[in-house]
Amino acid sequence: MNVMTKGGVAAYHPLDPLSADEVNEAADIIRGADFFNDATKFETIELHYPDKTDVLAWDGAGQLPRLAFVCIYDTNSGAVRECLVDLDRGERLSATVIPNARTAVVVDEIVACAENVAQNEEFIAAMARRGITDLSNIQVDPFSAGNFGFDDEADHRIVHCWVYHRNDPFDNGYAHPVEGLNVIYDLNRGAVLQVLDRTTVDIPMEERNYSVRYDRISAMTRDDLKAIAIGQPDGPSFTVAGNQVNWLNWQFHVEFKAREGLVLNDLRFKDGGEVRPLFHRASVAEMVVPYGDPSYGHYRKNAFDVGEYGIGRLANSLTIGCDCRGHIHYFDGIVNDTTGAPVVIENAICMHEEDEGMLWKHTDYMTMDVETRRSRRLIISSVATVGNYEYGFFWSLYLDGTIALEVKLTGIMNTAGLNDVSGDKYGTQVSPGVMAQNHLHLFCARLDAAIDGAANNLVEVNVVQDPPGPDNPWGNAFHAERTVLKSEMAARRDRNADTERYWKITNPNRQNRMGGDTGYKLMAPSMVRPFNHGDTLMAKRAAFTRHHIWATPYRTEERYPAGVYVNQSNGEDGIETWTAADRNIENTDIVVWHTFGIMHLPRLEDFPVQPVVRCGFALVADGFFDENPTLDMPPSTDGGNA
Ligand code: CO
Repeated sequence: MNVMTKGGVAAYHPLDPLSADEVNEAADIIRGADFFNDATKFETIELHYPDKTDVLAWDGAGQLPRLAFVCIYDTNSGAVRECLVDLDRGERLSATVIPNARTAVVVDEIVACAENVAQNEEFIAAMARRGITDLSNIQVDPFSAGNFGFDDEADHRIVHCWVYHRNDPFDNGYAHPVEGLNVIYDLNRGAVLQVLDRTTVDIPMEERNYSVRYDRISAMTRDDLKAIAIGQPDGPSFTVAGNQVNWLNWQFHVEFKAREGLVLNDLRFKDGGEVRPLFHRASVAEMVVPYGDPSYGHYRKNAFDVGEYGIGRLANSLTIGCDCRGHIHYFDGIVNDTTGAPVVIENAICMHEEDEGMLWKHTDYMTMDVETRRSRRLIISSVATVGNYEYGFFWSLYLDGTIALEVKLTGIMNTAGLNDVSGDKYGTQVSPGVMAQNHLHLFCARLDAAIDGAANNLVEVNVVQDPPGPDNPWGNAFHAERTVLKSEMAARRDRNADTERYWKITNPNRQNRMGGDTGYKLMAPSMVRPFNHGDTLMAKRAAFTRHHIWATPYRTEERYPAGVYVNQSNGEDGIETWTAADRNIENTDIVVWHTFGIMHLPRLEDFPVQPVVRCGFALVADGFFDENPTLDMPPSTDGGNA
């Protein structure tokens, strides 16, 4: 049974994204400004974040002023302006030029780039040298160019393109990389700056497809799968009003951003008669995918998919029965194009309940009394297509208070041709002549903590083996050592498997029944480290990857750990700079940042399309409740109700 609903309410929650009408209204106001001309484009039109104190004080009835943040760029002068618009009064409040900023690479520019490159004479000649004269199916992937200190790039807003050949429009181009040929393209001018023909390698021509359009795939499609039906005869256990969700003991607000995609706000848990705050906001605020091949142009592959493109702009419209099963509630995502028009991504966010197996069980061996409870979770998810790759962001809420994020990585690995410099040292040959290069996917979660209120601590826990001696006569003793991380520099922390290290967010102003501070622990199974050298510009731009944990005192403007304008950035804005101030983070409103991801050494099995690989983390109640909070779950029956 697949059921689809959408919610609609009249009044705005303070964090509700802008509606399509509001996007239009904000764009209209900016179009009337004296600095707006024919060459001006819109990067972002979104809700301007209200003051956190106003959000927390919101009584649920009235409406805070609706303000829009608008970022525009002049493609002639390169000037980037941030504007603030009061939608209630229909007027522009401010406009500020941001020096040295380059806006994100957006969809209409990506499309235009591919078209323009294919018409460039030098590019046509370079392809002809490789025996390709029909460019009707050429694939040009505009990769963010990064910043490698080249003087001739500094004044441009550029992408560094990778080229693939397709035999037909649906053919998998990643099986046919055009090695050695790159294009530097100026996004503002809409023109090719440079065709870089670095080496000539035969284009691998073996077809490696995955779509049922192709005979090889359709011929092998199996027919022995029996149906699995999901039944929810009473409907879901959640209720939705606008973007506000109630599910069993949970309350939260769903937000969709062009940049971060899916965001969960104001997560609260009902505990007895009390609704207790947990996190004010949780999002994936940045990510980067550094590749490890130094040959030719490959060192450039180092994309920040959140900051340089926007994971929300690239979100899929999800399909019932395929992407999501059961009783689904969808939220649309509203972004904008460069003309300032709203773009509605229908069904950008999927929400549904899933059976989650055993919650707890015990058989009393004396009475043979059996008590079993089934678990379930609420999943809120969104999937983005970033060129070759898909990233699925799956947040789960559990009955025991756990909040988990699972990132599902799928799609097609970025490929290169086997070349004479690197050979197969820096990757895996997945098809004759086709290299999938070693890379990492590194994400940074921004967790605006509010465990029982804003004032929280970040605590590190290490398990310590007691030394042998009179206090440890049998040599078995070990204990947990807890350290409050009191300042930003002290909170730059890394994994340590030898001490079973973990971190916990606590509220020193509230104690559980046994006298400990109430808290949530971070379960962090996906900590990996970057392998680029720390003194490079590449590493500086991705400084958030240098530690697994960071913490900052809450500041409204500190939202993106690699800075606001990541495209060709110099790495001077971001979490390393902020935390160098070494501000106090003890017993104050803190934001905890967790860097996690996977090291991807490609497998043959990851090609031509990659089965989902997962990474993520969980936030688990640890001394937050006085006992197992799921004792109120009804006994499980074969009726499937619990
Ligand atoms: Co990968």
